[in-house]
Amino acid sequence: MITAKESMFRLDTVNTTYLFRTTKFGHLEHIYYGTRLDVSEPADVLAQKRTIPIGSSVIYDESDQLYCLDNMYLEWSDNGRGDYRQSPTELKMPDGSFVSDFVYASHTIAEGCLPMSTLPSAYGGDQTLTVTLRDTSCSVTLDLYFTVFEKANIITRRVVLTNEDQNPLLIRRIMSMMTDMPDENFRMLTLDGGWIKEAHLHERLVEYGIAINSSNTGASSNRHNPGFILAESDATQDNGHVYGFNLVYSGNHFSSVEKSGRDILRVSIGINPHCFEWSLNQGDSFETPEAVMTFSEWGFNGMSHNMHSFVNEHIVRSNWKTREHPVLLNNWEAHFFDFNENKLLNLAKNAKKLGVELFVLDDGWFGKRNNDNSGLGDYSVNPKKLPCGIKAFADKINALGLDFGLWFEPEMVNTDSMLYRNHPEYAVKHPNKKPVLGRNQLVLDLCKSEVRDYIVKNVSLILDEANISYVKWDMNRHIAEGYSSSLQNQGEFYHRYILGLYNVLSRIFDPRPHILLESCSSGGNRFDLGMLCFSPQIWCSDNTDPVERLKIQTGLSYLYPLSTMGAHVSQAPHQQTLRKTPLATRFHVACFGCLGYELDLKYLSPEEKKDVADQIAFYKQYRQVFQYGTFSRMKASKANKIVWQAVSKDKNTAVTGFFQTLETAAESEDRLTVTGLNEGRYTIRTRPQRMYIERFGGLMKHILPVVLNPDGILLRVANRHYSLKDCVQEYKCSKEALRAGIALCNQFSGTGYNEKVRMHGDFGSDLYITEYINKEMLTDEE
Ligand code: GLA
Repeated sequence: MITAKESMFRLDTVNTTYLFRTTKFGHLEHIYYGTRLDVSEPADVLAQKRTIPIGSSVIYDESDQLYCLDNMYLEWSDNGRGDYRQSPTELKMPDGSFVSDFVYASHTIAEGCLPMSTLPSAYGGDQTLTVTLRDTSCSVTLDLYFTVFEKANIITRRVVLTNEDQNPLLIRRIMSMMTDMPDENFRMLTLDGGWIKEAHLHERLVEYGIAINSSNTGASSNRHNPGFILAESDATQDNGHVYGFNLVYSGNHFSSVEKSGRDILRVSIGINPHCFEWSLNQGDSFETPEAVMTFSEWGFNGMSHNMHSFVNEHIVRSNWKTREHPVLLNNWEAHFFDFNENKLLNLAKNAKKLGVELFVLDDGWFGKRNNDNSGLGDYSVNPKKLPCGIKAFADKINALGLDFGLWFEPEMVNTDSMLYRNHPEYAVKHPNKKPVLGRNQLVLDLCKSEVRDYIVKNVSLILDEANISYVKWDMNRHIAEGYSSSLQNQGEFYHRYILGLYNVLSRIFDPRPHILLESCSSGGNRFDLGMLCFSPQIWCSDNTDPVERLKIQTGLSYLYPLSTMGAHVSQAPHQQTLRKTPLATRFHVACFGCLGYELDLKYLSPEEKKDVADQIAFYKQYRQVFQYGTFSRMKASKANKIVWQAVSKDKNTAVTGFFQTLETAAESEDRLTVTGLNEGRYTIRTRPQRMYIERFGGLMKHILPVVLNPDGILLRVANRHYSLKDCVQEYKCSKEALRAGIALCNQFSGTGYNEKVRMHGDFGSDLYITEYINKEMLTDEE
C-alpha cells in the first residue's frame, strides 16, 4: 500500500516499510527501509537529525546552515549542488552545464503497474507512486516510479527523463534508482565468474569508497550478474537484515555501493555508463530499466524467498508461468555436430523409454554447420543430417510420444554463411577496423530494423512449419566493437542492441505463448530478469559437473527461483572437469531445477538405465516441489557439506539434498534439519539409490562374498547388470524433531559395510523426502 500524507511518502509491503519525504527545498529525503512499521509511527523518530553544522560542508542554501546535501540521506541526488557522492546522473543540461537540481513538482498514485514503453518490466504490482521532479532552471523533468508488490515484499523503481527545453540534453549516465541508507557494517555479495564457472558467490566488506558490480560485454554477463545483496555483518541464512537488488535488463549494467565518510551507504543500479551517451531533443524522453529492491529480517533465505516469488509471480509470463517444465533430453553432449536422423531417433527412442518428455535438437541442424566455423545466420536445414526437413523430423519425434524442441543462435553470423556473403553489413563491426571474432562468429546488428526483420521472419517460419514446443535461444559471444552504421550517436549502441533483442523476442514469442523458451548464452552469460520476461527457464551453465553446479546453482538461488534453472545430468568423467561423480549425485543436483539429460543414452549400462528411469519417475512425482517449492539453503555443520531444501506450497512435503564434496577420513555424525513445515508428524525417508560396484574396485572383497579381479572383465560385466543398495533410512517424527535435526546413520570409514552405512565417499549425496502423516494414518504409539 502506498500513502502520501503532507510531505511524507510511505510504501508498505506485507513485511517491509519504505519511507521518504520532500524537504523544504523540494529534495527527496530518504528516511527508512526495513521491517514493517506500525501505521502510526511518526517519521521524525526515524529521520536523520541535523542539529549542528558539519565542518567543511557546502551548504545548499544560506538560510539553513544545517542543510548540506552531501551529509543527507537522499532518494535522488544531482551534480553541482554540493553532494560529492556518486550521482545517479551525469547530464549535460540544455544550458550546456553539468549542473542539475531536480526538486519536487507533483505526485500521483495509481493502481497496478504503469507499463513501460520500450523495455520489459514486472507486471501485477499493487500500486505505483510517480513523483515528478523538475529542474530548478531548465525545462527538464524527471519522473521517479515506485511500484509495490505487497505479497512478494518487493519495490521496483525506475525513472523517465524528459527534455522540454528547445536545446538538446545529453545523458552520459542515468541510473534506475538510488537510495541512501545507514551502514550496518554491511557485506556486499555478488555473483561472479566466467564460462563454466558462473554465479559463484563472493562477499566483501563494504569499506569507505565505492564498490562496483558491472558488465560491459553487451550482455548482463557471466562475469558479474546484475543482482547483488547487502547483508548486515552477522546475518545468517535465516536471521538478520538482508537487502537484495536486481535489474530487469540484459545488457551492460552498473551498480555501485558507496560508503561515505559519515557512514551513509549510497546504493544505485542501472545501465552501465561505459560507452553510453544518449541525446534528448525537445519533447524526447528516456526511460531506464526497472530496478528491483527487497528487504528481509529473516536472513539470506528470507530475502531469496521474496525474490523467488517476485520472479515466479511478476516476471515470468506466457503459458509457462507456474506450469511444470518438462523433463528434456538435449543431444548436444551426445553428438556435438556429428549426427544424422538415425542417431537422433535412436537417442529419442531410448529417451522415451526412460520417461523423458521433450527431445531437444541442439546446434548443427542448419546451413553448412559441421563445426563452429560456419553456418550461423542461415536457416536452411542440412539435408545430409535431416533429409526430410525439420517438420518431418519433428513429426517423427512426436510420433514417439515426445515433444520437440530446437536450438537457434539468431543473434549471430559466421563469415562462412550465405547470410554474411549476401549481407556483410548485417554484422556488428567498425567500418575501418578488422572485426574481432568470438567462437569464430560475429554479432548481428540488432540496432538495424532489417536485421531484426530477417531474424523474426526466419525463426518464425521454422516455428510455424514444424510442431515445436520448446526453443533454446543461444548467444555465444560477447560484443566487442559496439558500432552500428545505422546510428548517428554510437553512445546509443549497447542499449539499442538490447532494445532490438527485446523487440525480436517479443515479436517471435508473444504470438506463440505455447513455446517454452530456454535462454542460453554459452551457459549462464545472460541469466537476468530481462531475459526471464521472455524465457521462463535459463541454461545456468555449460558445466554440468554436479560439484561445480552446487556452487553455480547455490549462487543463482540467492536471487532466482528453481523454476528458472535449467539443470542436466551428463556423462562422468565430466566433459569440462574430468571429475567422476556418482550418477545419483548428478541427478540429486539437477533435480533442484528443471531437469534434463544431456548424454548418449546408448552408452548407459542396463543398470544405469533403470537408475535414470527411476530418477525421472521420482522427479515427476515431486516436480512441483523441485520447480516451485520454497527453496532454502540449509545450515551445513561441516565445510564439505552442502544442504538444499525445497518445501511444497502447502508445507506438507519437503525434499532435502544432502551433498558431500571431498570426503574426510572418519567422518563424524551428520544431522539433517528440515524446516518450514506445518505442525504435525512426518515420515522422512531416503530416496533409494544404486551403488555401482565398480566404484569399489579391489575393495569389493570387503562388500561381496566373492573375490573379483578389480581390473577384470567379470567385475565390468557385473557392474553393468548388478548394483548394491545404498543405505535407506526412514523415521517418523514431529515437525519439532525435524527442525532440531535428526541424527543420520554413520558414513563408511573403512570398518565395514552394511545397509545402515551411508557410502558417500567423495561427491556422494542423498535425497530425503519428508511427508506429512495424516492423523488417520497414525498408529496408537505415534
Ligand atoms: C553453447 C551452449 C551449449 C550448446 C552449444 C552449441 O555453448 O551453451 O549448450 O548449445 O552452444 O554450439
